[in-house]
Amino acid sequence: MDKHNASITLDKDFRLGEADPRLFGSFIEHLGRAVYTGIYQPGHPSANAQGFRQDVIDLVKPLGVPAIRYPGGNFVSAYNWEDGVGPAAQRPKRLDLAWRSLEPNEVGVNEFAAWCRLVGAELMMAVNLGTRGIEEACALLEYCNHPGGSRYSDLRISHGVKEPHAVKTWCLGNEMDGPWQIGHKTAEEYGRLACETARAMRQIDSGIQLVACGSSSSEMPTFPDWEATILEHCYEDVDFISLHQYYANREDDAADYLAQSLKMDSFIKTVMAVCDYAKAKKRSKKTMMLSFDEWNVWFHSNAADEAIMKGRPWGLAPPLLEDVYTFEDALVLGTLLITLLRNCGRVKMACLAQLVNAIAPIMTDPDAGAWRQTIYWPFMQVSQFGRGTVLAPLMKSPKYDSKNYCDVPFLECAAVLDEEAGSLTLFAVNRSLDSDLPLTCDLRGFGGYTLTEHWQMAGHALKATNTQTSQEVAPRALPCGQSDGGSFEALLPKASWNVLRFSVDSCKAL
Ligand code: AHR
Repeated sequence: MDKHNASITLDKDFRLGEADPRLFGSFIEHLGRAVYTGIYQPGHPSANAQGFRQDVIDLVKPLGVPAIRYPGGNFVSAYNWEDGVGPAAQRPKRLDLAWRSLEPNEVGVNEFAAWCRLVGAELMMAVNLGTRGIEEACALLEYCNHPGGSRYSDLRISHGVKEPHAVKTWCLGNEMDGPWQIGHKTAEEYGRLACETARAMRQIDSGIQLVACGSSSSEMPTFPDWEATILEHCYEDVDFISLHQYYANREDDAADYLAQSLKMDSFIKTVMAVCDYAKAKKRSKKTMMLSFDEWNVWFHSNAADEAIMKGRPWGLAPPLLEDVYTFEDALVLGTLLITLLRNCGRVKMACLAQLVNAIAPIMTDPDAGAWRQTIYWPFMQVSQFGRGTVLAPLMKSPKYDSKNYCDVPFLECAAVLDEEAGSLTLFAVNRSLDSDLPLTCDLRGFGGYTLTEHWQMAGHALKATNTQTSQEVAPRALPCGQSDGGSFEALLPKASWNVLRFSVDSCKAL
């Protein structure tokens, strides 16, 4: 193989699977300024009658997030959902133990469901299995999904919400393996609780889908025994197991940082293997699906947050987890999105954690506007163009070794075919920090094709960021030029994110 060139061959019949639209989900927690002065700020010039910021809604909509996980995160493990419903004046202020903040409960289930409707997303609800349990989870489900004529559904109706919210996806707690979690449990304790909660919840609504908590990261000392043990108890009672992982460049080693999608891939493959072990052991016919319902880059704000959390007075919406993302982070996010796509056969849901202000693609200024961080762009493009059939590319690429990873391909890519639209989209990252990468794409299996769009993020300093007034890091459209029916050649600049969109002939005949 040429040491300096990469190539991919794509064929519409070589398929990895369908990308479930829920792969492009996100997450809003009652944390820092995600809710208060994030999505909700009555009195802000752009706020609507319900107090939701229209400037934020306008930035969320192009992301096309199909589902948003809520209300936590660590927050949910001591949350009383009842505090956030009913007449606003009667809602208590509570101490939020997870983030040492004051929770005013101005936004609760009904307000958040209304906001989800405004941005066109489904609500994905997490229940408190930290300080509470089966009874509370059932009460919340009855409140949200039961049509009426029972205690909690009538309570919802008395709160002015006649139609049920019809919440389809429910997370059975959050990161219950983590010692930091309020109500942390052993795998045995959690496995039993998840099983019994799931069974009771399905009595109320048999149409729901349930997610059991997997490990909080692949570095947890209990991983992957945690998965094996909890599935022993709840395999037949849940539809998904969750994965959480955040990525970081703590040692300022860009080559190693850019290789971390290999860690995501191996985490997914290991969880799949544990699920399949549980399936075999139980002689089950069911295949467990994966919900990667917390993933992102998170490290820029860690030191500041530690200092803030220690002894800080209990305050409302403190600025927490406000990572300012760089160009390098956007490239890493691109490789992570590609990895999720390439595992679409088993990863059916994923949530970029989070959406606004706290480790988020969207930032707000309480006294001014909202803006897009660098990571907004690859997420938006994959969400917009990555729906359809993920193809299995035959890929050749030169490789490198970094501090923690071996045989890292310089080229990371995924291709998605939208047969109905007759379009093929190639997402590609060149991880090389010092060399452009010539790429040959063999598209002969598609008959004729035309390159219709070519977007690129390249040429920025690795540490370049966006601000409220400057959108320096954003995709630029390149001229498409001539294309023919054979191989397609592209030059992927060093450290670049590329989106190439083709109109393909073979699908037009379908
Ligand atoms: O997303 C921030 C936090 O990260 C979440 O609250 C928790 O689930 C995870 O540890």
